[in-house]
Amino acid sequence: MLCDSTASGKAATMFHDPDFTPFEPAERPSYANSVSNYLKNWPAASYREGFSTLPGVWKSSPPTVFLTDPALIQELLVERADQFTRARISARAFSALMDPASLFLAEGTDWRWQRRAAAPAFRHENLLAFVPIFAACATARALEWRTAGALDAVDVHKAMTRTTFDVICEAVLGDPVAFDRDAFLAALTDAFGGFSWQALFAAFGLPRWAPHPGYYRMRAAVMHLNSEAARIIAARRAAGSGGRNVLALLLSARDPETGRVMTDSELASNLFTFIAAGHETAAIALAWSLWLIAKDQTTQERLRQEVADVAGAHEIGPDDVDKLVFTQQVVQEALRLFPPAPGLTRQAKEDTQIGPYPISKKSSVFVAIWSLHRNERLWEEPTAFDPDRFAPEKAKARHRFVYLPFGGGPRVCIGMSFAMLEITTILATLVRELRFTTVPGFRADVAPNVTLRPKGGLPLKIERVGRSASSGRAAGHSPT
Ligand code: HEM
Repeated sequence: MLCDSTASGKAATMFHDPDFTPFEPAERPSYANSVSNYLKNWPAASYREGFSTLPGVWKSSPPTVFLTDPALIQELLVERADQFTRARISARAFSALMDPASLFLAEGTDWRWQRRAAAPAFRHENLLAFVPIFAACATARALEWRTAGALDAVDVHKAMTRTTFDVICEAVLGDPVAFDRDAFLAALTDAFGGFSWQALFAAFGLPRWAPHPGYYRMRAAVMHLNSEAARIIAARRAAGSGGRNVLALLLSARDPETGRVMTDSELASNLFTFIAAGHETAAIALAWSLWLIAKDQTTQERLRQEVADVAGAHEIGPDDVDKLVFTQQVVQEALRLFPPAPGLTRQAKEDTQIGPYPISKKSSVFVAIWSLHRNERLWEEPTAFDPDRFAPEKAKARHRFVYLPFGGGPRVCIGMSFAMLEITTILATLVRELRFTTVPGFRADVAPNVTLRPKGGLPLKIERVGRSASSGRAAGHSPT
């Protein structure tokens, strides 16, 4: 179990855990933190209260607002969704990476029709057909680790990034389209690497072309990604093949209200978004899940037992995932402690108020998911890893907007069901015959950028579990 400590008088919301590099909210926000770990700049009050602010970058700038109250967040994301857009600073930073016309960034009617057209591709019943792909990619990874013997320090973040990238290529593109996956993956890393700088420069009002560290690498990577996406679309149109994959569904997608279909350029920007948003976040969720269960062998053994009970010796299939209730709870708890998207931003179209608080149309409003999930008013022992808090009856008793790894309201993550099916299937497949333990002396750390990557990766020890352990006998490890 992770534990917290109030002995130092500091926030009880940070890990004070021997395996984690602790950090506290900074006394004063700094621009160095904006690039290295922007979470340090989030107000300490966001871990205790529901509304807090940070001063703007200039004396005349309005404050940045942090919401960590479920009712206020619901008002922002649901009831008043039409009166807000994505915050300008964040939209500008994202637009260096993806087309502003894509589903992720579009606003108003441009967004609405794309969402309607893409929605059927992401319906739970359509997604169940992808479970064999998730299981096959995970089985290939497990086989590689099983046959390698005892492994002392495998970076599970790197490995899961490759596995979820393979998953997303198969599920989104379908029939293998010839493209260099390694080059695409490397370009994604370079493209996202510049995000924090882009956000910082946007906050200062610097022009889009102002170079920052990694700027030219980022530009070249984005050009590569866009041209590859366009090439893939052209190849698929020429081949004219359908099949059960997200691209085929998008190619035939039609706005049910207007009959409009996506142009090649809209398809290309959405394809890039789905690949990028789809694999990066799931890899992070899996990596932190594995790290958390490596630290808690009792939970890991319980997971293994559930998989044995539900799936026996066969590969996990579409009918199994809903029965892997505890596995899903573990994933949910990992997404609480390490939300791959640590925050969302919004900006009011006009001066307004949320609850009793006045909000300037110049302020960025953060739904501060990282601190919402650790807010001590909302969670008992917020930093403890306890998957049982997601037991169905406990989860039902909670305000829906206390827990938002996928956001909420009309712009809730369209890939939420995809991600939950994928992560659950992969985690279940990996634990059934492999045991994960921590590497002595290694301390995990976060490197928040667009997503909450682990800094320098997450090395774990991996060994094969014997038949007796996989069939449910306790492994006898106690939590570190
Ligand atoms: C653990 C995995 C994932 C997490 C934590 C996650 C998180 C999020 C969050 C928080 C948002 C809301 C952004 C906002 O309101 O500003 C979002 C939106 C989005 N996500 Fe995900 N996501 C995940 C997986 C996926 C997958 C698998 C896909 C696609 C295959 C995807 C595609 C998208 C898209 C296209 C949007 C924009 C939706 C819209 O604005 O209508 N995500 N995601």
